Amino acid sequence: MPGPTATVPKVCPMRIGILGGTGPAGRGLAVRLAAVGDEVVLGSRDGERAAGVAAGLVDAWPDHTLAITGGTNEECAGAEIVVMATPWDGAVATVRPLADELAGKVVVSMANALVKEGREFLALMPPRGSVAAMVQAALPHSLVSASFHHLPASEMEKLTTPMAADVLVCSDHREAAEATVALVDRIDGLRGIDAGSLSQAAAIEAFTAVLITVNIRHKVHAAVQLAGFPDA
Ligand SMILES: NC(=O)c1ccc[n+]([C@@H]2O[C@H](COP(=O)([O-])OP(=O)(O)OC[C@H]3O[C@@H](n4cnc5c(N)ncnc54)[C@H](OP(=O)(O)O)[C@@H]3O)[C@@H](O)[C@H]2O)c1
Repeated sequence: MPGPTATVPKVCPMRIGILGGTGPAGRGLAVRLAAVGDEVVLGSRDGERAAGVAAGLVDAWPDHTLAITGGTNEECAGAEIVVMATPWDGAVATVRPLADELAGKVVVSMANALVKEGREFLALMPPRGSVAAMVQAALPHSLVSASFHHLPASEMEKLTTPMAADVLVCSDHREAAEATVALVDRIDGLRGIDAGSLSQAAAIEAFTAVLITVNIRHKVHAAVQLAGFPDA
């Protein structure tokens, strides 16, 4: 079966939409991408709420010229690359009505299906094995990748905090993997690593529960860094 036709942007800076971008994860990603010159549209079920959150981010960093605006999730889906940053159980309902708008585009799923039990996070098993696979099934004409799962939003949103992490990327579409690795690499201190097909999203998403639990237990903000790469 032929895959979707890609309209992967080649030029930088890019216009990046973040569905559910009003939450900590979306806000953190938005400020980091805007800080390197990208234009970011925060999406929300309530466009006015997103506009207010976007204005708050711009005001919070007056020494930077952050091109962050807010709108509805529909408006945000018009961007060149779109990140899915809602809670996992809202992902399919969020993307499905946008399938036509998102056709041919790279859609990056960063959602993790987790549950908190006491001081521990546990991974849930979503239908199809991962949230990213659910999103790809709901968007058969989009090029879905999975990435950004292990980055702590609280650190991302503080532009004064240096980031140092490897960010795993997986996709069934070569163009989407390449575009997502390039997107990660644009953020200071992050390195995107192609980790294979979208089947790997199950393990990548589930590992988030381990990482957060380690961070809670040891009161740290540990990140993923892979040893053994030549320039590591
Ligand atoms: N927080 C982190 O450190 C972090 C790091 C990496 C990945 N992630 C993943 O990224 C995703 C977002 O994380 P978050 O902490 O930002 O989550 P969040 O604050 O709970 O949700 C993000 C936004 O999604 C929208 N939303 C909430 N429930 C929804 C639903 N049922 N359907 C559609 N939209 C809904 C809300 O925006 P509106 O009300 O404005 O629509 C909310 O502001 C999660 O899947 C999480 O696992 C989080």
